[in-house]
Amino acid sequence: MENILEIKYDGKPCYDIVLENDFKKLAYFLNQTGKKYQRICIVSDTNVASYYIDDVRDALRDVSGEITQFVFQAGEASKNLNVVEDLYESLIKAHFDRKDLLVALGGGVVGDMTGFAAATYLRGIDFIQVPTSLLAMVDSSIGGKTGVDFRAFKNMVGAFHMPRLVYMNLSVLKSLPQEQFKSGMGEVIKHGLIADRSYFDFLIKDREKICAFDPDAILHVVKRSCEIKGAVVEEDPKEQGIRATLNFGHTIGHAVEKLSKFSLFHGQCVAVGSVAAAYLSMKKGLIKGSDYELIRQVISDYGLPVSVCAETYHADEILKTTKSDKKMQAGKIKFILLEQIGKAVIDTSLTDADLLEGINEILK
Ligand code: GLY
Repeated sequence: MENILEIKYDGKPCYDIVLENDFKKLAYFLNQTGKKYQRICIVSDTNVASYYIDDVRDALRDVSGEITQFVFQAGEASKNLNVVEDLYESLIKAHFDRKDLLVALGGGVVGDMTGFAAATYLRGIDFIQVPTSLLAMVDSSIGGKTGVDFRAFKNMVGAFHMPRLVYMNLSVLKSLPQEQFKSGMGEVIKHGLIADRSYFDFLIKDREKICAFDPDAILHVVKRSCEIKGAVVEEDPKEQGIRATLNFGHTIGHAVEKLSKFSLFHGQCVAVGSVAAAYLSMKKGLIKGSDYELIRQVISDYGLPVSVCAETYHADEILKTTKSDKKMQAGKIKFILLEQIGKAVIDTSLTDADLLEGINEILK
């Protein structure tokens, strides 16, 4: 069918990404996995649960006679081992075993944390992703990266654990707060930049339709981004090589996110980080000045930041935080640059002085 993407692992079919406009076919696609589940726990946060948990529960009624739920306080501050422990406890109390299923209903925090609990509870049980934010649809629900933040370190503890299914109800995007939609667009723009110039051009041409939630434009955005991300994670599921290109904009972006104490959205930080990375790509003679200006303009046109306040963020602090991130290889930062719009390269040659130049470009 047209709106189903099959993701392979080790060359074999692993899970489907299904794009729908309601939750009605969730049970059908879960049954298509060929597995039967006695118990299901829907994991969600306080924001998403109030909108959708009843619909998802109803949609799953015929699949399992025993559906429980675990709802935690929305926000990045909940993405930690304490909340995972609470989830383990509720699963133990409900007698969950290896034949049961977790359903991650929500954005990136819900998906990452539920996936991590699924990877570790009883040494691994099944889970599916039902992403409700644009960011989770186009990025975090795909590829099996799961995990939590540990002390001050983002995503420092985790596991690769593939979902059995990724089911998206695109109509939920209409009720997504504007800022969160824009944040998702930060990752979408990144996909165009690292992998597909014509997709990047489509994002320029059809911006008004995309921002007005035109159903065809939104379907194209989510689908093309899922194809791009899906192709990368199929080729390199454990980030031994090309998967690192998905971190374009994230090296400096993560540092800004952390220094903002998560007051900035992830996609906003990726946007600012992308400007710095595009600037460094220009300085290294890889892309033209006009390409850099275009990238900056597109990011800004989507209502995303191209700089942060120089009074609040300091270049040396951003550099230090960048270097404490896990994107390091033998003491060198694995930095992602653009060879051209639509093609990323991994670079391990950037010096601190280079990085500071990129950082200073985004401090205004
Ligand atoms: N979000 C980057 C990755 O999944 O590898």
